[in-house]
Formats: sequence, structure tokens, C-alpha cells
Amino acid sequence: MKKEYIFTPGPTPVPHRVGLSQVRMVHHRTAEFGEILARVLDGLKFVFQTDNEVMLLTSSGTGGMEGAITNCFSQGDKVVVFAGGKFGQRLVELANYFGLDTIEIQHGWGDCADPADLEKALEADPGIKGVFLTQSETSTGVVNDVEAFGRIVKQTDALFLVDAISGLGAVDFRTDEWGVDLAISGSQKGLMTPPGVAFVAVSDKAWKAIDTATLPRYYFCFKAARASQSKSPPQTPYTPAITLVQALDVAIGMLREEGLANVFARHELFARATRAAVEALGLRFVASDHNRANVCTSVWSPEGLKSGDLVKHLRNDYGVSIAGGQGQLKGKIFRLGHVGYFDEFDIVTQVAALELGLKELGVPVEIGAGVSAAMKVLAEG
Ligand SMILES: Cc1ncc(COP(=O)(O)O)c(C=O)c1O
Repeated sequence: MKKEYIFTPGPTPVPHRVGLSQVRMVHHRTAEFGEILARVLDGLKFVFQTDNEVMLLTSSGTGGMEGAITNCFSQGDKVVVFAGGKFGQRLVELANYFGLDTIEIQHGWGDCADPADLEKALEADPGIKGVFLTQSETSTGVVNDVEAFGRIVKQTDALFLVDAISGLGAVDFRTDEWGVDLAISGSQKGLMTPPGVAFVAVSDKAWKAIDTATLPRYYFCFKAARASQSKSPPQTPYTPAITLVQALDVAIGMLREEGLANVFARHELFARATRAAVEALGLRFVASDHNRANVCTSVWSPEGLKSGDLVKHLRNDYGVSIAGGQGQLKGKIFRLGHVGYFDEFDIVTQVAALELGLKELGVPVEIGAGVSAAMKVLAEG
């Protein structure tokens, strides 16, 4: 028997009461489900910190990215996309796939996107229709300054699209205050729910663009979603992932109970404790000092050790799931998750497993050094 721990930065641990809420099957065209959906739609506004309508889509987060693009843009529209990681790169791929005229701004994997690059791009081409940015780039463990980008985009006619798939419900994300026109997220990270539901908060500016945008869309049509969600009680155009909506209802209730400020403070503390452990073990961070995300900590694998081997070892020997690298970082880094339903003891367990795993794979680490450093941060708060 091996106890299992999921410490990946998505999917993330699901609280028991969230999981249990999925046991009962309710029909989606009933007043009972309508009430649940109404609470969830309202709760999503709370977590997105927005008055905008939030579209609820049955898909993983990528469906939200696709929906945001196909509803608001037309072939040949010029967009600036920041691509400093696997998920920024996915925005580039989607933009290219749907025939947008993509200005791709590459920044180092481990560095954050620079608002000055956006200013330059906008100066060079005032016809830009969209700016695409990832808030928390889960593949590199970097957080971007959405607020700074928002200030720049607000002064233009361009739409500001932000992938907040791993950031929402973990780090501050102020959709309205920061001027985000298309704020995208998913269920399986900060929202502590299994994967399968995506959300997009759509601003008035984006709704105006939807009226004239011509890219083809069907399943992810926002007008259809809005028409159904506006009914009383609200509905969805097609069969939704009913049990996931039930689960979200409970998970958002937990976030409300804790309060967003406390949720963000918890993530900040756990990120700090994890970083202290990594430093104490003499390991190197992928992200530079000022831009390390509170969602996951990305670490270079020690010389001579493929990160995939460490990930496999921890899973097979200890039942502990951490994440390896993705894209160009595959095999080279590992990522320690601390997003969503984590407590102090999850942080300590993850670090303890890491220490044992590294030692067993021949890396000379001092057993207990990381745990002790993490514990000290946790004790001081
Ligand atoms: C920042 C970010 N964007 C996009 C995605 C893709 O989301 P999904 O796998 O839910 O389609 C992820 C998932 O890991 C992510 O972390």
C-alpha cells in the first residue's frame, strides 16, 4: 500500500467535500441545477474580481483560450503574443492556427515578459487588435506583471487576453481594475476542482469585437453561452460537465470562506517556504529572483540527473507526484507545486520526498536541510 500525494501544479489536490459533491447526478435542465449554476457564475465573478459576465465552457483551459480567440478575432488580425514558455507558446500556436497575423515576442524561459517590448510593438504598429499574455507561466514558474501590461493596453483599441489558468484563485488577479478583456481560467488549479471546465470573463470591449469577428466557432460560441446563461435560472447551451459544476460550487464556497486575501497570502507563504528549502538544498531556480511564481517553484535538475527520473522515482517509491519539465525544459527541470488545496504539511512532505529521492539517486544533499528551512519559514509565517 502506498499513500498518494499529488503535488503537481495542475491537476491539483481536490478537497474531500469538493470530490464528494460529485457523487449525486442531477439533471441539468432543472431548477435545482440552475440554482447551482447561478451560484457558480456569481462565484466566478468573485474570483475573477469582475463585473463582467463569465462564460462557463465544458473543456480544459485550452478550450477557453481557443474560445477567446475564435469569438473575438478575424483572420489576418494583427496580435502581439508573449511566448516565454510552453503556455505562451500555445497562445502563439492557436493564433497562427486560426490565421491571425502574429507578432511573437520571445522572452527567455525563466524570464518574465517585458512591458517595454509591448510599448515598442504598439508604437511600430498601431493597428494591433490584441495582446496575449500568460499570467503565471506554469512551465517555467514565472509570474508576469498583468497590471503593468493592462495599463498599456488600456490606452489602445486592442483587446487584452490573459491566460490566468494557473494563477486564478492562487495569486491576485483583478480583471476589471487591470483592464483584462478576456480573462481565461480552468477548474483544475487554484479552483481545487477536477479538470474539465474552463471560464472566460468577457469585457464590454470584447463583446463589441464579438459582434464583428468572423473566425468560425460553434461549441465555444460566447453568444450562445451568454444567451443560455442569461435565462432564469441560468443554463448552458449543451450538456455541461454537471458534476464538475457541483464541485466548483463547493470549491468556490471554500475560497469565499477563506477570503481571497488569505488565499493569496497562503500561496505566498508556501511558495516562500518551498524556495527556502530549494536554496537550503543548494539547488538552482529556473526563474530569476524577482519573478518567481507563487503557483509552482521550478528547479534545475542537479548535474547528471534527468528530471524525469526524479519524477518517476518519487512517484514509484513514495507515491508523490511532482512535475517534470515541458517543451525545451523537458528532462532538465522539475517543478514543485503549491497551488490550490495545499497546507503546511503538504509543503513539508513534498520537500521531504524530494530530499530522499535526490539522495537515493546519488545527489549529495543534506537530509533535513530543506525540511528545516521550509519549517522555519512556515513557523514564522
Ligand atoms: C498557464 C497555463 N495555461 C494553459 C494551460 C493549459 O490548460 P489545460 O491543460 O487545462 O488545457 C495550463 C495547464 O497546465 C497552464 O498552466
